[in-house]
Amino acid sequence: MDAPAQKASLASGAHGRVFNFSAGPATLPVPVLEQTQSDLINYQGSGMSVMEMSHRGPEFTRIIEEAEADLRKLMEIPDNYKVLFLQGGASQQFSAIPFNLTQPEDTVDQAVTGSWSKKAAEEAGKYCKVNIAAKGDNKSVPDRSTWKLTPGARYLHYCDNETIQGVEFSGAPEVGDTLLVADMSSNFCSKPVDVSKYALIYAGAQKNIGPAGVVVVIVREDLVGKARADTPVTLDYKIMEGSLYNTPPCWSIYVCGLVFKHLLAAGGLSGVKANNDAKAKLVYDAIEASDGFYSSPVEPSVRSNMNIPFTIPSDAALEKEFLQEASKKNMVQLKGHRSVGGMRASVYNSMPLEGAQALADFMKDFQSRHCR
Ligand SMILES: Cc1ncc(COP(=O)(O)O)c(C=O)c1O
Repeated sequence: MDAPAQKASLASGAHGRVFNFSAGPATLPVPVLEQTQSDLINYQGSGMSVMEMSHRGPEFTRIIEEAEADLRKLMEIPDNYKVLFLQGGASQQFSAIPFNLTQPEDTVDQAVTGSWSKKAAEEAGKYCKVNIAAKGDNKSVPDRSTWKLTPGARYLHYCDNETIQGVEFSGAPEVGDTLLVADMSSNFCSKPVDVSKYALIYAGAQKNIGPAGVVVVIVREDLVGKARADTPVTLDYKIMEGSLYNTPPCWSIYVCGLVFKHLLAAGGLSGVKANNDAKAKLVYDAIEASDGFYSSPVEPSVRSNMNIPFTIPSDAALEKEFLQEASKKNMVQLKGHRSVGGMRASVYNSMPLEGAQALADFMKDFQSRHCR
């Protein structure tokens, strides 16, 4: 049997799919993939695929309008917020945000709780003054009472879920009158969020809501139209409003739209959160019940529901074995980020409960065979 056929015969899921714990691009719902497959050659009688049609034609106009309307419904986005589907990834927003919301002499506050918020702070520092209002140790979030906010700061930027370290905020930090800007790339649509607490939320799609290539920006409308004069045209929210100034990432937006419909049909974000809580609990319980065989580096109160890093502290060589055995059991992409090591299980929205259960069962079984 060749390798792909062997993999298919081992797989438990439909279509010979594995349990894919990748941190992103990440697993997508099978019904969504099936829909893309049936639409691929001839999208709903148009005689074209979504990749081949004009972004200003009637079919794509409907796709992007429905995607926005469904996201608004899903997240209960108030009417005074704009929704933009842009290119350049979440990383490009690290620069777009200061271009749109600051002048060079302004100060912004940044909470640094892991690799992504650190990168965002470094990038913002090229365009305005940056105050590190809080600096975590990659395992915890500093107590809010210790944060040093700058009076008159244009905004506070933080990362709601640090994908690499697995540190997640339990809610929006309280920052008084300061505008709150959040990178929600890796926990977007994973739980209900009170959008009205935020000036701006942004998220790369490729973890919870679709393929790579599109970043969603939800921005309060009174903040749009104030970009600096030298803002590159495709970073200016006013110009990009409607997401059609230039050719948008049509295919990625189309798939995101299908995911939004899928999440709405599944009962919306409260149900999504309950499912995510249950999945994360299975894996964290396996770590906690292991008597130290597995270890989570993250303080329990801020452990991420999406990205679960863990190690085998007694013997790092066992981690390689763990990954190899897991892969043979069709649980793949569990290797920790290169800067952290160990393992990382990403259990985004589209990871089924059975995937988290299979991993927890395997963790117990592996421990029973290797615990000395
Ligand atoms: C929390 C977070 N922010 C930003 C990024 C960067 O996203 P992109 O690769 O879309 O630029 C990532 C990517 O993994 C991320 O996890």
